[in-house]
Amino acid sequence: MQLRDAFTPSQPVSDLRQFAGRTELLDSLIRSIEDQRLHVVLYGERGIGKTSLLHVVSQLAEEAQYLVRYVSCGEDSDFSTLMRSVVGTIPLLYHADYDPTDSEIEEGKSLDELLRPGAISANQLCDIFSRLSGTRMLIILDEFDRSPHGNFRRAIAELIKNLSDRSIRVQFVIAGVASNLAELVEHIPSIRRNVIGLRVPPMKVEETRELIAIGESASGIPFDDRAVDLTTTIANGSPYLASLMGQHAAIAAVERDARIVEAADVAQAVRVAVEEIEQRIPERTVKTIRRIVAEGNGVGLGKIARIAMAHGGRLETRASGPASEDTRECERLVREIALGDDLVRPIGDPGEGIYEFNEEGAPVYIWMLLTHTQIEENGKTMVAVG
Ligand SMILES: Nc1ncnc2c1ncn2[C@@H]1O[C@H](COP(=O)(O)OP(=O)(O)OP(=O)(O)O)[C@@H](O)[C@H]1O
Ligand SMILES: [Mg+2]
Repeated sequence: MQLRDAFTPSQPVSDLRQFAGRTELLDSLIRSIEDQRLHVVLYGERGIGKTSLLHVVSQLAEEAQYLVRYVSCGEDSDFSTLMRSVVGTIPLLYHADYDPTDSEIEEGKSLDELLRPGAISANQLCDIFSRLSGTRMLIILDEFDRSPHGNFRRAIAELIKNLSDRSIRVQFVIAGVASNLAELVEHIPSIRRNVIGLRVPPMKVEETRELIAIGESASGIPFDDRAVDLTTTIANGSPYLASLMGQHAAIAAVERDARIVEAADVAQAVRVAVEEIEQRIPERTVKTIRRIVAEGNGVGLGKIARIAMAHGGRLETRASGPASEDTRECERLVREIALGDDLVRPIGDPGEGIYEFNEEGAPVYIWMLLTHTQIEENGKTMVAVG
């Protein structure tokens, strides 16, 4: 049980004590919100730690007397429904026109009482928000990449614009999987001056080490130096992978009655992770990937998997400006290895040369499978070298 709580690869961290690194990013976030009064867009790869960061920001903001509302977006997100539910959780007490002794307040009513039925406009919301008193508000929209394009995102952008123009102290923090700001919030030109985009970068080596150290002390099972090095290398900046490796390696150590996690336990963790991921992606994809690796194209496939992992899943095969080596190689690899086997598909107009893997989990699977193969092949040497 202690082990399951020590590393939580399937859940975001919500406790500050379990939160590793990210101090610079937290600093920029807090400064953007508090000092610059900007709305923030956090973007980055899948599993890079966006939701964990949002949880921590929520906690800190609440401690600083912000009213914080966290909403997870989905394909069916609708602006009016979403905003009505947010407004519905704000007690009327915070409205400047109401007195604490008013009967509505004693009845526990909330601000949605003031909304007319039907669709809500940004203007109408701003009128209500502008009357908030004695508090500042943070509305957090997570998984924004899953929200519908078009009306929904346009309405959010419009609300942000109105809030900023009227200096209303309600701020948005938006997060989602993307490789850049504009990809996530399409209506950026109108709100460029009111929004700051912050990328959640891969974790630095020291940050991954800190994540492992937190897990070590929570579980009471230390990792030896080689196990730490190997875990850090495999994680490649992903807190998700570090957490996954940490958990499985610690379980492997416990299962062999050891008191310390060694490199061999990390190797075992990779084995288990590969099997686990294989359960989650279609068999056809697994077979194709395994065949490409068996045919000796593993290195090339690994390269595009890593590019996808580092760019929010996107594979850009046309360089803008002077064609870079990476882009040209990516173009060749996509064409020679992945396209024919139906592993990738174009995003948008095929002419643009931007691709993504058909299966979102494929890049991580490829990366883990190759690590696994490498450990098996030169097993003793790699484990020994760590
Ligand atoms: N700063 C951190 N310290 C410790 N663990 C972390 C940290 N950031 C992320 N993790 C771990 O990494 C995993 C992924 O984190 P999280 O869910 O926050 O990422 P995400 O970017 O929101 O992912 P997704 O794109 O799937 O929504 C979780 O298991 C979490 O426990
Ligand atoms: Mg998330």
